[in-house]
Amino acid sequence: MIYLDNAATSWPKPETVCSAVSEAVRLGGNPGRGTSEGARSAAEILDTARELLAQLINVPDPSRIIFTLNATDALNLALKGMLSPGDHVITSSMEHNAVTRPLAYLEDAGVLVTKLAADPADGVSPEAVRSAIRPETKLVAVTHASNVSGALNPIGEIGQVCHERGIPFLVDASQTAGAVPIDASGMHIDLLAFPGHKSLLGPAGTGVLYVSERVSPLPLRSGGTGEFSDVRLQPEQLPWHYEAGTPNTIGIAGLAAGARFILERSVSAIYHEEQRTLQTLVSGLAAIPGITVYGPLSGPRAAAVSFNIDGLDCADAAMILETSYGISVRAGLQCAPDAHRTLGTFNLGGTVRVSPGLFTSSEEIEAFLSAVREISAEGQ
Ligand code: ALA
Repeated sequence: MIYLDNAATSWPKPETVCSAVSEAVRLGGNPGRGTSEGARSAAEILDTARELLAQLINVPDPSRIIFTLNATDALNLALKGMLSPGDHVITSSMEHNAVTRPLAYLEDAGVLVTKLAADPADGVSPEAVRSAIRPETKLVAVTHASNVSGALNPIGEIGQVCHERGIPFLVDASQTAGAVPIDASGMHIDLLAFPGHKSLLGPAGTGVLYVSERVSPLPLRSGGTGEFSDVRLQPEQLPWHYEAGTPNTIGIAGLAAGARFILERSVSAIYHEEQRTLQTLVSGLAAIPGITVYGPLSGPRAAAVSFNIDGLDCADAAMILETSYGISVRAGLQCAPDAHRTLGTFNLGGTVRVSPGLFTSSEEIEAFLSAVREISAEGQ
Protein backbone atom coordinates (compact mmCIF):
# COMPACT_ATOMS: atom_id res chain seq x y z
CA MET A 1 0.00 0.00 0.00
CA ILE A 2 1.08 3.56 -0.72
CA TYR A 3 -0.56 5.60 2.03
CA LEU A 4 -1.31 9.15 0.90
CA ASP A 5 -4.14 9.99 3.32
CA ASN A 6 -2.13 11.57 6.12
CA ALA A 7 -4.52 14.55 6.30
CA ALA A 8 -7.11 12.09 7.64
CA THR A 9 -4.67 10.43 10.03
CA SER A 10 -0.94 9.81 9.82
CA TRP A 11 0.43 6.36 9.07
CA PRO A 12 2.68 4.65 9.92
CA LYS A 13 3.37 5.64 13.51
CA PRO A 14 6.96 5.60 14.81
CA GLU A 15 7.96 2.48 16.72
CA THR A 16 8.47 4.66 19.83
CA VAL A 17 4.78 5.63 19.69
CA CYS A 18 3.71 1.98 19.45
CA SER A 19 5.89 0.97 22.40
CA ALA A 20 4.78 3.94 24.54
CA VAL A 21 1.15 2.88 24.02
CA SER A 22 2.00 -0.74 24.75
CA GLU A 23 3.80 0.19 28.00
CA ALA A 24 1.05 2.56 29.16
CA VAL A 25 -1.70 0.00 28.67
CA ARG A 26 0.14 -2.26 31.14
CA LEU A 27 0.10 0.34 33.92
CA GLY A 28 -2.38 -0.09 36.76
CA GLY A 29 -3.59 3.23 38.13
CA ASN A 30 -5.52 6.34 37.30
CA PRO A 31 -3.56 9.65 37.22
CA GLY A 32 -4.35 11.97 40.14
CA ARG A 33 -6.56 9.28 41.64
CA GLY A 34 -4.71 7.30 44.30
CA THR A 35 -1.05 6.88 45.18
CA SER A 36 -0.17 3.58 43.53
CA GLU A 37 2.98 3.40 41.44
CA GLY A 38 0.80 3.05 38.35
CA ALA A 39 -1.18 6.18 39.23
CA ARG A 40 2.04 8.13 39.70
CA SER A 41 3.50 6.85 36.43
CA ALA A 42 0.29 7.76 34.61
CA ALA A 43 0.42 11.30 36.07
CA GLU A 44 4.04 11.57 34.90
CA ILE A 45 2.97 10.60 31.37
CA LEU A 46 0.44 13.44 31.30
CA ASP A 47 2.94 15.95 32.74
CA THR A 48 5.60 14.98 30.22
CA ALA A 49 3.16 15.21 27.32
CA ARG A 50 2.05 18.70 28.40
CA GLU A 51 5.68 19.84 28.63
CA LEU A 52 6.59 18.50 25.18
CA LEU A 53 3.49 20.01 23.57
CA ALA A 54 4.02 23.39 25.25
CA GLN A 55 7.56 23.36 23.86
CA LEU A 56 6.27 22.43 20.41
CA ILE A 57 3.95 25.46 20.17
CA ASN A 58 6.22 27.77 22.19
CA VAL A 59 4.09 28.52 25.22
CA PRO A 60 5.55 28.84 28.71
CA ASP A 61 2.92 27.12 30.90
CA PRO A 62 2.28 23.38 30.32
CA SER A 63 -0.83 23.48 32.53
CA ARG A 64 -2.50 25.44 29.72
CA ILE A 65 -2.24 22.38 27.45
CA ILE A 66 -5.71 20.83 27.81
CA PHE A 67 -6.26 17.25 26.66
CA THR A 68 -9.40 16.64 24.63
CA LEU A 69 -10.90 13.76 22.66
CA ASN A 70 -9.69 15.15 19.34
CA ALA A 71 -9.37 18.52 17.56
CA THR A 72 -13.15 18.69 17.05
CA ASP A 73 -13.68 18.39 20.80
CA ALA A 74 -11.05 21.10 21.39
CA LEU A 75 -12.80 23.40 18.90
CA ASN A 76 -16.18 22.76 20.52
CA LEU A 77 -14.72 23.73 23.90
CA ALA A 78 -13.19 26.90 22.47
CA LEU A 79 -16.22 28.02 20.44
CA LYS A 80 -18.98 27.09 22.90
CA GLY A 81 -16.92 28.25 25.86
CA MET A 82 -16.20 31.67 24.37
CA LEU A 83 -19.45 32.67 22.64
CA SER A 84 -22.89 33.60 24.00
CA PRO A 85 -26.03 34.88 22.27
CA GLY A 86 -25.48 38.43 21.01
CA ASP A 87 -21.72 37.91 20.55
CA HIS A 88 -20.13 38.23 17.11
CA VAL A 89 -17.53 35.83 15.69
CA ILE A 90 -15.43 36.18 12.53
CA THR A 91 -14.53 33.01 10.65
CA SER A 92 -13.76 32.00 7.08
CA SER A 93 -15.23 30.19 4.10
CA MET A 94 -12.51 27.50 4.23
CA GLU A 95 -13.32 25.94 7.59
CA HIS A 96 -13.85 22.26 8.36
CA ASN A 97 -17.21 21.18 9.81
CA ALA A 98 -15.44 20.99 13.19
CA VAL A 99 -15.73 24.79 13.15
CA THR A 100 -18.75 25.40 10.91
CA ARG A 101 -21.12 23.00 12.67
CA PRO A 102 -20.55 24.25 16.24
CA LEU A 103 -20.88 27.77 14.83
CA ALA A 104 -24.15 26.81 13.09
CA TYR A 105 -25.58 25.69 16.44
CA LEU A 106 -24.33 28.88 18.07
CA GLU A 107 -25.82 30.95 15.24
CA ASP A 108 -29.19 29.29 15.82
CA ALA A 109 -28.83 30.27 19.50
CA GLY A 110 -28.25 33.95 18.64
CA VAL A 111 -24.49 34.28 17.97
CA LEU A 112 -23.73 36.52 14.98
CA VAL A 113 -21.38 34.84 12.50
CA THR A 114 -19.38 36.59 9.76
CA LYS A 115 -17.86 34.15 7.27
CA LEU A 116 -15.10 35.92 5.33
CA ALA A 117 -14.56 34.72 1.77
CA ALA A 118 -11.08 33.21 1.64
CA ASP A 119 -8.88 33.34 -1.44
CA PRO A 120 -8.32 29.74 -2.65
CA ALA A 121 -4.54 30.25 -2.74
CA ASP A 122 -3.82 32.98 -0.19
CA GLY A 123 -6.48 32.29 2.43
CA VAL A 124 -8.08 34.91 4.67
CA SER A 125 -6.90 38.50 4.33
CA PRO A 126 -5.83 40.10 7.64
CA GLU A 127 -7.32 43.39 6.39
CA ALA A 128 -10.67 41.69 5.80
CA VAL A 129 -10.54 40.49 9.41
CA ARG A 130 -9.75 44.02 10.61
CA SER A 131 -12.69 45.47 8.61
CA ALA A 132 -15.14 42.86 9.95
CA ILE A 133 -14.46 43.61 13.62
CA ARG A 134 -17.45 45.18 15.44
CA PRO A 135 -17.95 46.28 19.03
CA GLU A 136 -19.59 42.95 19.84
CA THR A 137 -16.86 40.78 18.20
CA LYS A 138 -15.72 38.26 20.81
CA LEU A 139 -13.65 35.86 18.72
CA VAL A 140 -11.82 35.35 15.42
CA ALA A 141 -11.72 31.64 14.49
CA VAL A 142 -9.77 30.45 11.44
CA THR A 143 -7.94 27.38 10.30
CA HIS A 144 -4.16 27.46 9.93
CA ALA A 145 -4.42 25.38 6.75
CA SER A 146 -7.31 24.07 4.70
CA ASN A 147 -7.76 20.31 5.03
CA VAL A 148 -8.95 20.33 1.40
CA SER A 149 -6.47 22.50 -0.50
CA GLY A 150 -3.55 22.88 1.91
CA ALA A 151 -3.76 26.69 1.57
CA LEU A 152 -2.16 28.37 4.59
CA ASN A 153 -3.76 31.34 6.30
CA PRO A 154 -1.45 34.18 7.39
CA ILE A 155 -2.11 33.45 11.06
CA GLY A 156 0.78 35.60 12.30
CA GLU A 157 -0.70 38.66 10.59
CA ILE A 158 -4.28 37.85 11.60
CA GLY A 159 -3.01 37.34 15.16
CA GLN A 160 -1.40 40.78 15.04
CA VAL A 161 -4.74 42.35 14.01
CA CYS A 162 -6.55 40.51 16.84
CA HIS A 163 -3.87 41.56 19.31
CA GLU A 164 -4.12 45.24 18.27
CA ARG A 165 -7.91 45.17 18.59
CA GLY A 166 -8.02 43.04 21.75
CA ILE A 167 -10.04 40.22 20.14
CA PRO A 168 -9.34 36.61 21.21
CA PHE A 169 -7.89 34.52 18.38
CA LEU A 170 -8.69 30.80 17.88
CA VAL A 171 -6.66 28.76 15.38
CA ASP A 172 -7.55 25.28 14.12
CA ALA A 173 -4.14 23.67 13.60
CA SER A 174 -5.50 20.26 12.62
CA GLN A 175 -3.44 20.09 9.44
CA THR A 176 -0.33 21.84 10.69
CA ALA A 177 0.58 20.99 14.31
CA GLY A 178 3.81 19.02 14.06
CA ALA A 179 4.32 19.81 10.35
CA VAL A 180 4.36 23.62 10.13
CA PRO A 181 6.09 25.77 12.76
CA ILE A 182 3.62 27.41 15.17
CA ASP A 183 4.70 30.01 17.70
CA ALA A 184 1.46 30.48 19.64
CA SER A 185 3.00 33.18 21.83
CA GLY A 186 4.62 35.19 19.00
CA MET A 187 1.54 34.84 16.76
CA HIS A 188 -0.81 36.12 19.50
CA ILE A 189 -2.85 32.93 19.44
CA ASP A 190 -5.21 32.70 22.42
CA LEU A 191 -6.71 29.31 21.66
CA LEU A 192 -4.99 26.62 19.56
CA ALA A 193 -6.80 23.38 18.76
CA PHE A 194 -5.01 20.38 17.28
CA PRO A 195 -5.27 16.59 17.00
CA GLY A 196 -2.67 14.17 18.30
CA HIS A 197 -3.10 11.63 15.50
CA LYS A 198 -2.13 13.62 12.42
CA SER A 199 1.29 15.27 12.03
CA LEU A 200 2.10 14.71 15.71
CA LEU A 201 2.07 10.96 14.92
CA GLY A 202 0.12 9.94 18.04
CA PRO A 203 -2.89 7.63 18.29
CA ALA A 204 -6.49 8.56 17.46
CA GLY A 205 -8.58 9.75 20.41
CA THR A 206 -6.08 12.44 21.40
CA GLY A 207 -6.49 16.17 20.95
CA VAL A 208 -5.37 19.40 22.56
CA LEU A 209 -6.67 22.87 23.25
CA TYR A 210 -4.05 25.39 24.32
CA VAL A 211 -5.75 28.13 26.36
CA SER A 212 -3.71 31.31 26.89
CA GLU A 213 -3.82 33.35 30.08
CA ARG A 214 -5.75 36.07 28.21
CA VAL A 215 -8.93 34.01 27.82
CA SER A 216 -11.10 31.81 30.03
CA PRO A 217 -13.71 29.90 28.07
CA LEU A 218 -16.40 28.17 30.12
CA PRO A 219 -15.68 24.44 30.54
CA LEU A 220 -17.57 22.16 28.15
CA ARG A 221 -17.58 19.22 30.56
CA SER A 222 -17.73 18.92 34.32
CA GLY A 223 -17.04 16.06 36.69
CA GLY A 224 -14.31 14.36 38.63
CA THR A 225 -10.83 15.83 38.63
CA GLY A 226 -9.04 13.59 41.13
CA GLU A 227 -7.89 16.57 43.18
CA PHE A 228 -10.07 19.42 44.54
CA SER A 229 -13.02 17.06 45.02
CA ASP A 230 -14.55 19.35 47.67
CA VAL A 231 -15.40 22.27 45.36
CA ARG A 232 -18.89 22.49 43.86
CA LEU A 233 -17.97 23.45 40.31
CA GLN A 234 -14.90 22.61 38.24
CA PRO A 235 -11.79 23.77 40.15
CA GLU A 236 -10.29 27.01 38.83
CA GLN A 237 -6.85 25.35 38.68
CA LEU A 238 -5.59 24.30 35.26
CA PRO A 239 -5.74 21.88 33.55
CA TRP A 240 -8.58 20.51 35.73
CA HIS A 241 -10.84 23.46 34.96
CA TYR A 242 -11.26 21.92 31.51
CA GLU A 243 -10.51 18.23 32.06
CA ALA A 244 -13.12 16.02 33.75
CA GLY A 245 -13.13 12.25 34.11
CA THR A 246 -10.43 9.66 33.56
CA PRO A 247 -8.05 10.85 30.85
CA ASN A 248 -6.81 8.83 27.89
CA THR A 249 -3.43 8.09 29.47
CA ILE A 250 -2.67 5.37 26.92
CA GLY A 251 -3.31 7.62 23.93
CA ILE A 252 -1.50 10.53 25.56
CA ALA A 253 1.55 8.31 26.19
CA GLY A 254 1.62 7.69 22.43
CA LEU A 255 1.10 11.38 21.73
CA ALA A 256 4.03 12.28 24.00
CA ALA A 257 6.24 9.85 22.09
CA GLY A 258 5.03 11.35 18.79
CA ALA A 259 5.75 14.88 20.00
CA ARG A 260 9.22 13.81 21.13
CA PHE A 261 9.89 12.22 17.74
CA ILE A 262 8.90 15.49 16.01
CA LEU A 263 10.87 17.71 18.41
CA GLU A 264 14.02 15.60 17.93
CA ARG A 265 13.84 16.28 14.18
CA SER A 266 12.50 19.87 14.59
CA VAL A 267 9.25 21.08 13.07
CA SER A 268 11.17 23.56 10.96
CA ALA A 269 13.33 20.83 9.35
CA ILE A 270 10.25 18.65 8.75
CA TYR A 271 8.44 21.61 7.19
CA HIS A 272 11.25 22.50 4.78
CA GLU A 273 11.72 18.89 3.69
CA GLU A 274 7.98 18.48 3.19
CA GLN A 275 7.76 21.63 1.05
CA ARG A 276 10.08 20.00 -1.51
CA THR A 277 7.90 16.86 -1.65
CA LEU A 278 4.75 18.97 -1.99
CA GLN A 279 6.15 21.09 -4.80
CA THR A 280 7.10 17.94 -6.74
CA LEU A 281 3.61 16.59 -6.15
CA VAL A 282 1.72 19.76 -7.11
CA SER A 283 3.78 20.63 -10.18
CA GLY A 284 3.74 16.98 -11.28
CA LEU A 285 -0.06 16.83 -11.00
CA ALA A 286 -0.61 20.22 -12.67
CA ALA A 287 1.48 19.10 -15.67
CA ILE A 288 -0.76 16.08 -16.41
CA PRO A 289 -3.31 16.72 -19.21
CA GLY A 290 -6.90 16.53 -17.94
CA ILE A 291 -6.02 17.33 -14.30
CA THR A 292 -7.25 20.37 -12.39
CA VAL A 293 -5.41 21.18 -9.15
CA TYR A 294 -7.25 23.42 -6.66
CA GLY A 295 -5.67 25.87 -4.25
CA PRO A 296 -2.06 27.10 -4.23
CA LEU A 297 0.11 25.90 -7.12
CA SER A 298 3.35 27.23 -5.68
CA GLY A 299 4.77 28.56 -2.46
CA PRO A 300 4.44 27.34 1.12
CA ARG A 301 1.48 25.08 1.84
CA ALA A 302 0.26 22.27 4.06
CA ALA A 303 0.29 18.65 2.96
CA ALA A 304 -3.21 18.36 1.47
CA VAL A 305 -3.52 18.65 -2.30
CA SER A 306 -6.89 18.48 -4.06
CA PHE A 307 -7.46 17.69 -7.72
CA ASN A 308 -9.95 16.24 -10.17
CA ILE A 309 -9.55 14.23 -13.35
CA ASP A 310 -11.66 15.49 -16.28
CA GLY A 311 -14.71 13.34 -16.86
CA LEU A 312 -14.15 11.12 -13.82
CA ASP A 313 -16.06 11.33 -10.55
CA CYS A 314 -13.69 11.93 -7.65
CA ALA A 315 -14.97 8.88 -5.72
CA ASP A 316 -14.38 6.68 -8.79
CA ALA A 317 -10.88 8.09 -9.23
CA ALA A 318 -10.07 7.31 -5.59
CA MET A 319 -11.47 3.81 -5.99
CA ILE A 320 -9.29 3.16 -9.08
CA LEU A 321 -6.22 4.46 -7.25
CA GLU A 322 -6.99 2.12 -4.34
CA THR A 323 -7.97 -1.02 -6.19
CA SER A 324 -5.71 -0.87 -9.26
CA TYR A 325 -2.64 0.81 -7.78
CA GLY A 326 -2.87 0.22 -4.00
CA ILE A 327 -2.77 3.97 -3.33
CA SER A 328 -4.90 5.35 -0.47
CA VAL A 329 -6.30 8.88 -0.82
CA ARG A 330 -9.57 10.52 0.29
CA ALA A 331 -12.30 11.69 -2.09
CA GLY A 332 -15.48 13.71 -1.59
CA LEU A 333 -16.15 16.80 0.51
CA GLN A 334 -13.63 15.83 3.23
CA CYS A 335 -15.99 17.22 5.95
CA ALA A 336 -15.48 20.74 4.60
CA PRO A 337 -18.40 21.71 2.33
CA ASP A 338 -17.68 25.45 2.67
CA ALA A 339 -14.14 24.93 1.43
CA HIS A 340 -15.51 23.15 -1.64
CA ARG A 341 -17.97 25.99 -2.28
CA THR A 342 -14.98 28.36 -2.13
CA LEU A 343 -12.96 26.22 -4.55
CA GLY A 344 -15.93 25.68 -6.89
CA THR A 345 -15.87 21.90 -6.38
CA PHE A 346 -19.00 21.46 -4.24
CA ASN A 347 -21.23 20.64 -7.23
CA LEU A 348 -18.65 18.14 -8.48
CA GLY A 349 -19.09 16.19 -5.25
CA GLY A 350 -15.67 17.38 -4.08
CA THR A 351 -12.16 16.40 -5.06
CA VAL A 352 -9.58 13.67 -4.79
CA ARG A 353 -7.31 14.68 -1.92
CA VAL A 354 -3.76 13.38 -1.73
CA SER A 355 -1.82 13.98 1.47
CA PRO A 356 1.76 12.81 1.93
CA GLY A 357 3.27 12.51 5.38
CA LEU A 358 6.60 12.42 7.16
CA PHE A 359 7.36 8.91 5.91
CA THR A 360 6.30 9.37 2.27
CA SER A 361 9.20 8.66 -0.12
CA SER A 362 9.93 10.35 -3.44
CA GLU A 363 9.38 6.93 -5.10
CA GLU A 364 5.86 6.85 -3.70
CA ILE A 365 5.14 10.33 -5.07
CA GLU A 366 6.43 9.23 -8.50
CA ALA A 367 4.29 6.06 -8.37
CA PHE A 368 1.25 8.17 -7.53
CA LEU A 369 1.90 10.65 -10.37
CA SER A 370 2.43 7.80 -12.81
CA ALA A 371 -0.90 6.21 -11.73
CA VAL A 372 -2.77 9.51 -12.21
CA ARG A 373 -1.13 9.92 -15.63
CA GLU A 374 -2.41 6.48 -16.68
CA ILE A 375 -5.93 6.99 -15.30
CA SER A 376 -6.23 10.40 -16.93
CA ALA A 377 -4.87 9.13 -20.28
CA GLU A 378 -7.42 6.28 -20.31
CA GLY A 379 -10.25 8.81 -20.01
CA GLN A 380 -9.04 11.08 -22.85
N1 ALA B 1 -10.52 15.98 9.21
C1 ALA B 1 -9.87 14.85 8.64
C2 ALA B 1 -9.79 14.94 7.14
O1 ALA B 1 -9.71 16.01 6.62
C3 ALA B 1 -10.42 13.58 9.12
O2 ALA B 1 -9.79 13.94 6.47
